[in-house]
Amino acid sequence: MSEIERHSYDVVVVGAGGAGLRAAIAAHDAGARTAIVCKSLLGKAHTVMAEGGIAAAMGNVWPEDNWQVHFRDTMRGGKMLNNWRMAQLHAQEAPERVWELESWGALFDRTPDGKISQRDFGGHRYARLAHVGDRTGLEMIRTLQQRAVALGIDVFMECTITRLLKDGDRIAGAFGYWRESGRFIVFEAPSVVLATGGIGKSFKVTSNSWEYTGDGHAMAMLAGAPLINMEFVQFHPTGMLWPPSVRGILVTESVRGDGGVLRNAEGRRFMFDYISDYFKAETADTEEEADRWYDDHINNRRPPELLPRDEVARAINAEVKAGRGTPHGGVYLDIASRRSPEFIKKRLPSMYHQFKELADVDITKEPMEIAPTCHYVMGGVEVDADSAMSKVPGLFAAGEVAGGMHGANRLGGNSLSDLLVFGKRAGEYAAAHAAGLAVRPRIDEADVAQAEAEALAPFARDGGENPYSLHRDLQETMHNLVGIIRVAEEMERALERIAEYRERLEKVSVEGNRQYNPGWHLALDLRNMLIVSESIARAALERKESRGGHTRDDYPSTDPEWGKRNVCCRWDGDHVTVYQQPLPEMPDELKKLFEEH
Ligand code: FUM
Repeated sequence: MSEIERHSYDVVVVGAGGAGLRAAIAAHDAGARTAIVCKSLLGKAHTVMAEGGIAAAMGNVWPEDNWQVHFRDTMRGGKMLNNWRMAQLHAQEAPERVWELESWGALFDRTPDGKISQRDFGGHRYARLAHVGDRTGLEMIRTLQQRAVALGIDVFMECTITRLLKDGDRIAGAFGYWRESGRFIVFEAPSVVLATGGIGKSFKVTSNSWEYTGDGHAMAMLAGAPLINMEFVQFHPTGMLWPPSVRGILVTESVRGDGGVLRNAEGRRFMFDYISDYFKAETADTEEEADRWYDDHINNRRPPELLPRDEVARAINAEVKAGRGTPHGGVYLDIASRRSPEFIKKRLPSMYHQFKELADVDITKEPMEIAPTCHYVMGGVEVDADSAMSKVPGLFAAGEVAGGMHGANRLGGNSLSDLLVFGKRAGEYAAAHAAGLAVRPRIDEADVAQAEAEALAPFARDGGENPYSLHRDLQETMHNLVGIIRVAEEMERALERIAEYRERLEKVSVEGNRQYNPGWHLALDLRNMLIVSESIARAALERKESRGGHTRDDYPSTDPEWGKRNVCCRWDGDHVTVYQQPLPEMPDELKKLFEEH
């Protein structure tokens, strides 16, 4: 075994997006010796892709708003499959987390009377997204990062964790490598918080960047923690479409929140044709009423462009399929004809520059061409709602890598608030777990040797499979066979292919040495992407209904019986197995909220 760098902490946080940074701050504040380990440079996180805002019922724009309405919206948006306790804690604690962020230096946009401004997003009854133009995630990361650094929390950046280490059934630490040198590193820690974000890089068209390979999802599974809700993948309705080099880049929902509308190639505002029964009562069915909403939420119903994301993405898909799409296979998002250039540049500065610089489109004059893009996974590590601890003692998960909070579909803006609420909880409970142990777990050196051998395996092979071709094939398969619309036969085909890809992965070889070798890094990430993809496909095959981010052509209706169950995935040592588990029962006082509002 080569010389390995070693460190010891009470809490190791893997990932430095909003959840990771908030968890690390909380663990540090609770007195734990804390480290952040992140795959990328500090500050580069998918959190910045939540551009439009942080959902929190502060009631700054609509005093009628409160946590109960936010809770109800979140549950309905998630098609009632959310873990009710997580949704409750989230709605109750989000306002406090936003004010705290402001006290740490976040510069939110203001209402005319000086309060934090709140904007509209799909599925939210009231305008409740605290925002900084269309760069809210960026401001959140800037603020949290500054605080974490000021507190002196140790940061290991450009350092990838590949394995969680255990002592018996509890967490003992983590094994990884420095991306720059390729040298190995071991962290001894009784508490590990996964905050690794999502899985988008398993799909061909995604808003996610290279880091989002499902590392935390896969490592948790390999360590014995089950995942839930993996069939629910969110396709954000509006990703850039043209030119091909920008395909998938996010176009914030704020464009629609601030008055933008969707039109097909015939110029028709088609969302009026796709209002599901589920949201009929609260959705405007004429353009006149839809437009009145912006001034008067109380007496008018929401525009159909502000239906939850699953509904809008499906509608766009259907329009394109029906031959009413744009030349490149999307639809138009038009704010130019509805808001002044000054308004657009003030509220949506990043979108203005993004389209101008990347697509040569002036969004104050022309519509944007957009199509759905894989943005978020609702599924993740099954955690205890209050503590964020997984089924493995000492292993915590917060943010996108955790499952349950968003059910079958996440409402826009609920991810930034989720990161803050459950990041803080995970950090606090991780610190308490470490402090409460009579004996710290010990790392087994045989596990370290095994993790090292696994990481080096691609160098030991010659002339084998290229990791880039394997990655491309996997992305094609997930896009074509397990995408927005699914059928059993295609998902079975996807599973057969994933099994072949796993055999191919055993033959992947990489050239060169361990110093900054992206081919090698991808070869290691592929294990995670294959485990995650298998979980998504198996869970999606198991759920024989359509609900939220899971639409089946062969089971097009929503079945109340399936509304009582989660699909869970576990690693059986060789592949993913699925099983069903009843949803926790919601208390009566919360059930009543669905009658009252
Ligand atoms: O559209 C957006 O700005 C994304 C927000 C989110 O995913 O929460």
